[in-house]
Formats: sequence, C-alpha cells, structure tokens
Amino acid sequence: MTAAHRPIASDAARAQDVFPAGSNGEFNIPPELSIVVDRGEGCRLWDMTGREFVDFSMGWGSVLPGHARREVVEAATRQAAKGSNFAHVNRPALELAEEIKRLSPASRRVRFCASGTEATMYCQRLARAFTGRPLILKFEGAYHGANEIGVTSLFPQRLKDFPAPDPSSAGIAPVVNDQVIVAPYNDLPTTEAIVAAHADRLAGVIVEPLQRCTPPRPGFLAGLRAACDRHGVLLLFDEVVTGFRLAYGGAQELYGVVPDLVAYGKALGGGFPIGAFGGRQEIMDWVREDRLGRDDYVWTASTLGGNPVSTAAALAALAIYRRPETYPHLRELGQYLREGMRRVLEERQHRAQVIGDGPLAQVVFTADPVFDYRSTRRGDGAKGRALMLGLFRRGIFLNPMGTKLYLSLAHDRTDCDRFLDRLGDALGDL
Ligand SMILES: Cc1ncc(COP(=O)(O)O)c(C=O)c1O
Repeated sequence: MTAAHRPIASDAARAQDVFPAGSNGEFNIPPELSIVVDRGEGCRLWDMTGREFVDFSMGWGSVLPGHARREVVEAATRQAAKGSNFAHVNRPALELAEEIKRLSPASRRVRFCASGTEATMYCQRLARAFTGRPLILKFEGAYHGANEIGVTSLFPQRLKDFPAPDPSSAGIAPVVNDQVIVAPYNDLPTTEAIVAAHADRLAGVIVEPLQRCTPPRPGFLAGLRAACDRHGVLLLFDEVVTGFRLAYGGAQELYGVVPDLVAYGKALGGGFPIGAFGGRQEIMDWVREDRLGRDDYVWTASTLGGNPVSTAAALAALAIYRRPETYPHLRELGQYLREGMRRVLEERQHRAQVIGDGPLAQVVFTADPVFDYRSTRRGDGAKGRALMLGLFRRGIFLNPMGTKLYLSLAHDRTDCDRFLDRLGDALGDL
C-alpha cells in the first residue's frame, strides 16, 4: 500500500497505538469510546471530531475555575512571556506561598513541588524524619498520589485484618510493607487502638479529610488529632482534593481541625501543574539546605516546583476563589446535583447511595450506608462502571474508573439538569 492509499487513522486509533490502553493514566475507556480532546471552555470539552461533552471530571478536579478561564489564562500567558521556570523563588511563587500561609493555619512554612504525589511524599518523609519513627498510618481505600504509600491498600481485593497493608500495585518495594499500617476510615475506636499499639514506631497518620467522596463522621478528624497528640504522632492532611474546593481554607476550615503537615495540589493550580506542602516551622526547617549533610536534614527538590507560570495561574485562581459567591455556589450546586441524582435513582428504582460534599458527587449501588472502603466495596462496581460508560456515551465526560464527579465554577443548574437527564437515560440501559 502506498502512503497515498494508506487509510488515515483517527486520533482515537492513534492513541490506542501509542498509549497503553489508549490513555495517559487511570481512565480505562473501551477502545470504541476512546476520544482525543481538542479543547475546553467553561465546563465543556470538544474532541478532535468536534463532538461536545459536558465535563464532570474537570481535569480530575484541577480546573476548578473552569476550562480556559480568562483570568487564569491571562495570568499564565503574561508570565510565560517573562520566563516559565527559574527553579528559584520568584514573585508569583512568593505571593502564593504568603497567601497559603494566610489561609492554611497548618502552613507556617511552605514549599512548592509539581504534583500532589510529590507533596504527600514529602509530608510522609518529613514526619518520619521529625519523629525519628518509621511507620505511616493510612486509611484503607485512600489515595495519596502515585508514591509507594499513596497506592498501598488503595483498592485491596483481599481484605486483610487491620492494620496489615496490601500493595494494590505490582512493583511496590517489599520494604513498604514494613513502613505502613492501615486503619478503617471513619472508625475512630479501631484507629485509636492501632495508633496506641504502634505509637513508639508511628511517625504520622495521613488522611484525606474527605476520603475519595466519603465525608468524615462528626468527630472523626478531631479524634484523630487528639490520638496523634496523645502519642506524639504527626497528623498529615492530604488536601489535594479538599483544598480550595470545600472551602477557601479547605478541610481545615470546613472541619475545624489543624494538622501538623498539609499537602496541596489540583485546584490550587487552577489547571496548571502544582503541588505544595506546609507545616509548622520546626518541622519544615528540616528541609533547609544549610543542614545538608546533617542528620536533621530532609531532601526535597522539584525542578518545576514553584515555577512562575503555575504560581501566577494559581494566584489568579485563588483571586477567583476568594469572591464571596464562590463557595455558596459550589455548595449549592453540589447539593442540587446530589439531590437530583437521588431523585432520578429512586424514580428508576435503583437502590443506591449518593455520597460527597461541596462540589463532589458519587453513586454507589448499594442499599446500605457508605462510610469507608469496605462499605463502598460492597456496592455493585460492575453496575457503577456500566452507568459511567453509559453517561460517557451520552456526552458526559467523566472518569469511569474514579467515578467521582467534579463540579466547577463554570457549571450551573442547567448543566446539572443535563447530567440528570442523561443519568435517567443511562439508568434505563442497565
Ligand atoms: C487525595 C489525593 N492526593 C494526592 C493525589 C495525587 O495528586 P497528583 O495526581 O497531582 O500527583 C490525588 C490525585 O488524584 C488525590 O486525589
């Protein structure tokens, strides 16, 4: 076949040919649904064939201001023309760090990195160094990024007795098994007992304050704070999802609990790559390079961390988030969507739980309440996936693996109504 007669492969087919499973990570879309994104605006996306989607993933929650939001685009392009990376403190990074210090009570000192994965990794390392203890406690089903502890016990298929970890990914260093213990989210008595039993070796407890899409039970986070204080263990909040989303001050503001270390990412950058971690000065001082070579020094470095384009975009995003209407809108819209989903599921006679808080929502097909990994896992996962694919087929862009839906400042009730309409249709296929 000559080049002139060779059929032109679609972008989707080309993606199947070069990316494993046709995706750049965690999507698992069947080849016949595979698309390549061309552009986004507000809460809409268009693929290379011109097909329109309403986006309920929003860059996995990173694009909270909405796609191509004018203020963010202008800030980033203005800065890009002045240089995109110096790997050194620059004015936007400085102003952003000062703003994080203002809004995050835990963050008396701040450093930037390029992703949430890095941010939680540094928090874990700092906790081990500062306390001189080897173990990190995480909650079953929690995700803290692609680092070793972040994926451990993320979706264990064999449910072990607590606090034994499960790798959840091939290739995790066997030594990680000895560095992490696992507790059930929202179960304070069991967690307290595990913390007490391992206190002399436990450096930190890392928690997604709202785990995946499951809110904390009243008193759970305050109970963790108290348990950590009793045993000299550090409390680490992974605010990569909750930060700037549930409130301007994130989970710290909404739930009124202040951790020792905190990790940020996603919405902080308004769609640009960013991570940040902060903590008390005496902990954060361990990363000071004037200590290099000493025993009380922790290595952190990130080539693109604090780059002026991402931090300028973040400053523009934060200025939008600070507007008085932002969080009332996100909360009201999230509630509207969740209530609408419950109504449609009930009308169609599906027994399901709709969970989430703020601008987040998720369906779990189970008649029983969902409060941790095991109760979520009792849901009908195959049905959940079929529903997500049915929505995708109907022009709702989402991550069928994550199943968590993200709203943004660009969504309104009409977008939610459109989603609910498609939800009814997709449920009809199940
Ligand atoms: C709670 C949480 N922590 C950390 C991460 C990792 O962030 P990133 O993908 O920027 O590395 C994620 C990503 O989804 C997350 O949801």
